[in-house]
Amino acid sequence: MPQNRGMTSTADATARRAAQLRAQLNDHAHRYYVLDEPQIPDAEYDRLFQELQAIEAAHPELLTPDSPTQRVLGKVLDGFAPVVHAVPMLSIRTETDTESSGALAFDARVRRELGLTPEDPPVEYAAELKFDGLAINLRYEAGVLVQAATRGDGEKGEDVTQNIRTIGQIPLRLSGVTAPVLEVRGEVYMSRDQFEKLNERQRELIAQGAKNEKTFVNPRNAAAGAVRQLDPAIAAKRPLSFFAYGLGDVQGWDIPPTHSALLDALEQMGLPVCSDRTVTQGAEGLVAFHQAMGEKRDSFPFDIDGVVYKVNSRELQKKLGFMSREPRWAVAHKYPAQEQMTVVRDIDIQVGRTGKLTPVAKLEPVFVGGTTVSNATLHNEDETRRKDVRIGDTVVVRRAGDVIPEVVSVVLDKRGADVGEPFDLYKKLGGKCPVCGSGIAREEGGADWRCSGGLFCPAQRKQAILHYAGRRAMDVEGLGDKLVDQLIEAQVVHTLPDLYKLGLTSLSTLDRMGEKSAQNLLAGLEKSKRTTLARFLYSLGIRQIGETTAKDLAKHFGSLDRIMDASIEQLLEVNDVGPIVAQSIRTFFDQPHNREVVEQLRAAGITWPEHDGEGDLSPKPLAGKTFVLTGTLPVLSRDEAKEMIEAAGGKVSGSVSKKTNYVVAGEEAGSKLEKARELGVEVIDEAGLRALLPAGDERL
Ligand code: IVH
Repeated sequence: MPQNRGMTSTADATARRAAQLRAQLNDHAHRYYVLDEPQIPDAEYDRLFQELQAIEAAHPELLTPDSPTQRVLGKVLDGFAPVVHAVPMLSIRTETDTESSGALAFDARVRRELGLTPEDPPVEYAAELKFDGLAINLRYEAGVLVQAATRGDGEKGEDVTQNIRTIGQIPLRLSGVTAPVLEVRGEVYMSRDQFEKLNERQRELIAQGAKNEKTFVNPRNAAAGAVRQLDPAIAAKRPLSFFAYGLGDVQGWDIPPTHSALLDALEQMGLPVCSDRTVTQGAEGLVAFHQAMGEKRDSFPFDIDGVVYKVNSRELQKKLGFMSREPRWAVAHKYPAQEQMTVVRDIDIQVGRTGKLTPVAKLEPVFVGGTTVSNATLHNEDETRRKDVRIGDTVVVRRAGDVIPEVVSVVLDKRGADVGEPFDLYKKLGGKCPVCGSGIAREEGGADWRCSGGLFCPAQRKQAILHYAGRRAMDVEGLGDKLVDQLIEAQVVHTLPDLYKLGLTSLSTLDRMGEKSAQNLLAGLEKSKRTTLARFLYSLGIRQIGETTAKDLAKHFGSLDRIMDASIEQLLEVNDVGPIVAQSIRTFFDQPHNREVVEQLRAAGITWPEHDGEGDLSPKPLAGKTFVLTGTLPVLSRDEAKEMIEAAGGKVSGSVSKKTNYVVAGEEAGSKLEKARELGVEVIDEAGLRALLPAGDERL
């Protein structure tokens, strides 16, 4: 029937479109995750993704296992199903000497076992990195990823397909592969910066009171934890990466004759293969590779614990065979460990440039990750207590890349009777900053103790001066990073008001300071004296007070004295000022030395127009009023409306709350309009907005 035929062809077209979207999305994912060269903006990727999702929702029969929509789906498991490896996953012999002898010994062994004499030509090797993650077997059938399994005991691993699918770098379909079975082996790892970010997030969660959270010891641990996560949604949030380095079971595919050609072929299929690899002849090349990669080790974005040498020719590999479950044709050659044990001699507290107080373990010096380490961070009080690090303890220290060495755990077995008390930062410092003696405080829900000294604290001096002089603060021309260092070093500037005491004579004592630059700086300082209240407030560097809050405070209170004397309750009346911000302002102005700094700056001649936060004197009929814009206005664009409201002293916020005064609604206004009605916020249109604006703003 004609009608039927029509339906079939629509169905065909939909199926074709779904296949096309799958191919496009998989290609873009490869460009994005593996090649690091995205070709389309994220928003376009999202659009294609949503189109495919919509098709699959309407036609579940079109859903395929290689669909990119299937990456982050799956249910929380009770456990992982066992997987018997079709080909056992072997390990390799390790040369633990970190000098060149490991490479020489391996080459000598290979030559002996191949029956080569010194006159025979050198053996060709493929050399690559030994990634410090966990081995995974990816099973592709007809080019489609059907299973991912851990190594387990080498014979039997665990089915972790659902978590491995969330790794964007791992193709769900191999490009140009139709072989019935192709198993690819490689290492799943977490990059160092993802690891740092993850632990940073974990520390925040712990500070906020999360009970079941912990930090991870190293990237390998974090990667292993993510791969064995029973909840795929959590696994998806722990960004992992992958490098392919070998094969498992293969059916119906001609394996290339050398290892290096195999890696090239895997790369062609869309798998990530590390580019730091080489093909070289004989032991000398191996030694050089070990040396070169050792020098680059810290600059890799991931951990390696050595390099791997493999006899390049498959034919020779077969000839060499295996010995007690280890191939005779491959060896791992290590580097110095990135983790070592040592003893904590003391715990110091360092004051950072922003006043953050960080406990630092003073260690019995230890050689780790290629250098001698005698200090290691303990991050914060909670971490120190959670790990229960005490003076006298034996601890594991980790140093990898340019990351600051850290204490990762205590070796409790080695704890002696004379070990120190559990760590208590406040007690240790007697409640006072070790640098300036100001009170210390810890924000609610924050992990860090801080010095409240602000500009008064020498540890924070440089940061305070640079912030003060910044373009968005007092905008002191000619006062940059190097000059601030010089001024502090020469002890001519201790606190902010000292800046205004500078003269040609004191400046001339500085190195490389010509008369011209001295005069420029003095002119810049002079010019900075005329400012606005908002800028001045911002320039004081009060924690939590960014530009916007400074403007809001200036607008609301109109004078510095009123801000300095405002109670917490009064501060809370200001737009977007919550308890933490209010407390921070109070703490700052409660310190007599901070008030003194403010008074000295005023005495130095800093002025601003009173009762005006912005510094311009046009009428501000909308001062203190908050607007929310929603929908499309008939004439004004959103930016234009925002600009006009702000010019009249009003504020535009992104979401409707009880503090919103007006919602300006245009065509197709959505949930914000509903919210306004719910909260009883006044809703006006464009004409209503114009009526509120001062007469004369007739640009549109
Ligand atoms: S080849 C038969 N190559 O090191 C050879 N392994 O014991 C199989 N590893 O757990 C391994 N980087 O996960 C090979 N480039 C690399 C590697 C590598 C890391 C791991 C692997 C295995 C262990 C070897």
